[in-house]
Amino acid sequence: MNIQSELQATVQALAQQGKGILAADESGPTIAKRFKTIGVASSEDHRRAWRCLLLAAPGLGEFVSGVILHEETLGQCTDDGTPLPQWAAQQGMVPGIKVDAGKIALAGAPGDEITQGLDGLAERLDAYKLQGARFAKWRAVYNVSDTLPGCLALKANAQALARYAAICQQCGIVPIVEPEVLIDGEHTLARCAEVTEAVLHAVFHALHGHKVVLEHLLLKPSMVLPGKAHAQQAGPAEVAAQTIRVLRRTVPAAVPSVNFLSGGQTPEEATANLDAMNRLGPQPWQLSFSYGRALQEPALQAWQGQAAHARDSQQALLKRARLNSAACQGRYSAPMEAA
Ligand code: 13P
Repeated sequence: MNIQSELQATVQALAQQGKGILAADESGPTIAKRFKTIGVASSEDHRRAWRCLLLAAPGLGEFVSGVILHEETLGQCTDDGTPLPQWAAQQGMVPGIKVDAGKIALAGAPGDEITQGLDGLAERLDAYKLQGARFAKWRAVYNVSDTLPGCLALKANAQALARYAAICQQCGIVPIVEPEVLIDGEHTLARCAEVTEAVLHAVFHALHGHKVVLEHLLLKPSMVLPGKAHAQQAGPAEVAAQTIRVLRRTVPAAVPSVNFLSGGQTPEEATANLDAMNRLGPQPWQLSFSYGRALQEPALQAWQGQAAHARDSQQALLKRARLNSAACQGRYSAPMEAA
């Protein structure tokens, strides 16, 4: 298969109606933080057990088209020796890989951050591909205040995202482009909308400059939300209207699918907000999910590190996956939470 057909086939496998992506690619410090809430130490064995449990949830592939893995997971196996990427594929989920090397302070721009990891990326992608990865993810992070993010952070992160995406496509790997506007802070919904619009505008300008094929990428943005310390929180109708307005102003129709991150919303909020967007009528792109916490949190609490709780934990994951699948089609309602 040539590279264009390969990219197209992966996009088609990921962007299926009513399905979304499971983000299970937490970095070392992040997974340790999540495990701490249930009193489990972050050993390699525990991380493998947890991620095997997630991937083995029976029927997960009915709601989840792809799973983003950490580099460590890509090299791990199930108890019977099946490599985890292969296991995911057998479950009907395309295996992907987080390839950025995390964020650092952006020199010259106090308060802003930049994501690193471009050096040697093409070689790493070739190796990940041999292990089964067909798509990748790179996350840029934007802190919000009255003055942040600054112009330099907008430009520098957009350039890095675009270079990453171009390198991925050259290697036959579909890039997920993830610009995350953080919900930490006291800012208003309007300020988040303003920042998100500037961020997405800069990102698509840079993607164009780097000759990235928009049909062969997925966008993973944050929703437009007020800062979590802001006094006035917003309901699904308002979040949906503001988010769609910003996306329509900035995201070209050639992009096949927009898969939101959950970014610290509760699992129920993330589902209700996605549902509200899909009730606003047809958009140029599919609107789906690529959730980490909003899919995994209830399952993690049910697991508690105990093999005996694996079934309950998988049921909790499947419930969130099913409800988010309904939300992709604008068919979710609060009473479904009780079922
Ligand atoms: P959350 O849905 O927990 O924000 O995680 C998504 C993700 O992949 C962050 O990079």
